[in-house]
Amino acid sequence: MLNTQHLCEAFSAHFPGSGAPGLCRAPGRVNLIGEHVDYNGLPVLPIAIDREIRAAFAARKDGKVQLRSLDAGFPPADFHNARKIPPSAPGAWENYAKAAIQGLNVLFNMENPPGLDIMVTGDIPVAAGLSSSSALVVAISLAYLRVLGKTLEKDITRIKLAECLAEAEQYVGTRGGGMDQAIILLAREGHAAKIDFHPLRTAFVPTFKDYVFVVCDSLVKARKSGGARHAYNEGPLSCRLLCALVEKTARMVFDSEVEIARLGDLWHGPLCLTDKEVSELFEQTFPDSHVTLDKAAHRLEITPNEIRERFLGDLPVPAEGLPLKARARHQLTEYRRVETARDAMLAGQPDVFGALMTASHRSCADDYRVSCPELDRLVDAALQAGAIGARLTGAGFGGCTVNLTPAKQMLQFKENLDNSYYRGIAHGSAPIHVVQPASGASYLDTP
Ligand code: GLA
Repeated sequence: MLNTQHLCEAFSAHFPGSGAPGLCRAPGRVNLIGEHVDYNGLPVLPIAIDREIRAAFAARKDGKVQLRSLDAGFPPADFHNARKIPPSAPGAWENYAKAAIQGLNVLFNMENPPGLDIMVTGDIPVAAGLSSSSALVVAISLAYLRVLGKTLEKDITRIKLAECLAEAEQYVGTRGGGMDQAIILLAREGHAAKIDFHPLRTAFVPTFKDYVFVVCDSLVKARKSGGARHAYNEGPLSCRLLCALVEKTARMVFDSEVEIARLGDLWHGPLCLTDKEVSELFEQTFPDSHVTLDKAAHRLEITPNEIRERFLGDLPVPAEGLPLKARARHQLTEYRRVETARDAMLAGQPDVFGALMTASHRSCADDYRVSCPELDRLVDAALQAGAIGARLTGAGFGGCTVNLTPAKQMLQFKENLDNSYYRGIAHGSAPIHVVQPASGASYLDTP
């Protein structure tokens, strides 16, 4: 249990001149379905969870930011606030604070921004696919808004803040979409949210009665701003090329002027295509499983170097090319699964929802290739242990799975996993948590 009183006392002991701190919280999130589609403008269905980051903070006049954590593994970080803040080494935790503060400096056009003292603590497992990093970004942003004298909802809407922070978080070098910041700011207790992008909007759905979402940690760490960054970025970067190739075909088939800025535009943009039409367009664009740099360059009538500059950056491209056909298939099938899953949740059909979760995992593993052997084993073990749906959640490559389980069978489920996946690898009790759908980030009263 997080102890706000302790946080405030630690803050005052550490920053004795600061006066009584302000307080805020930002939850982690579990994505129930809709993985690696948000950066293409396609919908997702996450919940915020009852695990969060809390921050105690106070303004400073000298422009200095002093960031502290009560938790092990987060060393103290001091930096000077400025319109443009130089990043620390990749993977450094303060980069998330810098991202939030710089993002708001740009948004509010701050020339000589103030500083702040801030102390955080949290109980969201780190590098586990539960968005502890975006929760930190959101918590820092709420603290900094207060320091700037801005009021959430009045000076900036939650939607606008979510959009600003999604953009701002690119500072850490990960090309994420907007799901995490959106659910962390917009979530409603007891509900999942189907989130659509461009423009950002939410439709809330009450979660199932008598069933729980259970998060199981694979114990493989996947640091999105560290080692897993390149693996993660392969998705968004290769989708940029994928989209340009599909646009080229759409111009031949439908309209020579049409612009497809992101894959989601195929359905929601000027063409308003059906799934069947999108599927045919993909078939026509990707007759082969892989697309080499040369082939892509030839198709788009530019040089391989331009392909790198415009779409792929420093993404390594193997000689056989990028597996764009399967990547496109994941986008289409996952989009359909998200829409169907929301219908199933509205209709109170956990079995249908669970089957879609498992199908999503298979697509993430086989078509999108963001799983790893441990996650695959954990999904299979969970289904054996009594889950009616199981899948990786978040960026993948490690981290957690999310599982739908009858509430009554929870103990049995846990025991079964203790004796299968976790046998010999988890010390003490298995890292399995029932998560409750929580409300979005907020300010807290001082205890
Ligand atoms: C990370 C990103 C999100 C999303 C997921 C995968 O969490 O931050 O924007 O792309 O991966 O669904």
